[in-house]
Amino acid sequence: MLSIRIVGLGLFLSIVSGKNVKIPKGLPTCYRNDPNLNQCMVEATDKIRPMLRAGIPELKIPSLEPFNLPQVDLQQGSQALNFRATLNDVVIHGLTNYKFSRFDFDVKNLQFFCEAHLDSIQLNGNYNVTGRILIAPIVGNGKFVAKIDSADAVVYQKYEIGDIKGNKHIIPVFTNSSINVSGPKAVLDGLFDGNKELNDITNKAISDNVDELFEDLKPVVEETITRIMEDLLLKHLTANIPYDQLYPVKP
Ligand SMILES: *[C@@H]1O[C@H](CO)[C@@H](O)[C@H](O)[C@H]1NC(C)=O
Ligand SMILES: *[C@@H]1O[C@H](CO)[C@@H](O)[C@H](O)[C@H]1NC(C)=O
Ligand SMILES: *[C@@H]1O[C@H](CO)[C@@H](O)[C@H](O)[C@H]1NC(C)=O
Repeated sequence: MLSIRIVGLGLFLSIVSGKNVKIPKGLPTCYRNDPNLNQCMVEATDKIRPMLRAGIPELKIPSLEPFNLPQVDLQQGSQALNFRATLNDVVIHGLTNYKFSRFDFDVKNLQFFCEAHLDSIQLNGNYNVTGRILIAPIVGNGKFVAKIDSADAVVYQKYEIGDIKGNKHIIPVFTNSSINVSGPKAVLDGLFDGNKELNDITNKAISDNVDELFEDLKPVVEETITRIMEDLLLKHLTANIPYDQLYPVKP
């Protein structure tokens, strides 16, 4: 059993679309009838990287480097991990260290299949946790740092054609992702009211069992990535740029 709630995302979706939509300068264009569409899409992910680093204000897409998550509420019940936690003011570095090996747009069925490799991602922020970890109690609040050396992600998205302000748009209706991480690490400070001995013992237990714990946290990471992809990127891109301008037909 796992539940996750990301607070403060997706609330900023604002439709800037109208009859005369200005495509942000530098946004790569791929034609949906191009026989090399999928290669164009992979190259576009490289071209758009500096824009994602800085954010794309015209489309209300925030900076991804670093990326700020105001609040994440987690609740998890499994053998190794059983806790409720709130993460606040989470800052994520490294999300734009991605390299897509696949970004296939199946135009006929309006679905995307993407595969990406990410290097060195770091998260830090404030946490508040209560529960059990590897049978021992864990309770406290303070600062946390988490890192992964690398990650491989597969993301799937399904769209429908919809109408926004009289224009034809593709609208995401389903996104899911799967991710494998290598070299995960996490350190919490401030556990057990700042009792140093218990704090150190717990951090050692986390570090000794980090792969097992991360396996349990995988759904959380996957859900978070899915929400970020969908709420932050795809909805803004597709809601603000009509289909015929986002993926035009080459004459
Ligand atoms: C931590 O969470 C508990 C239970 O949800 C809450 O009562 C407490 O005020 C929180 N503490 C901090 C420092 O946020
Ligand atoms: C994750 O690892 C499993 C087992 O090695 C593999 O089957 C799967 O394709 C990997 N997934 C990703 C997203 O790389
Ligand atoms: C996502 O959902 C699709 C359609 O239900 C499924 O075929 C695919 O295996 C799922 N992919 C991931 C990465 O979870």
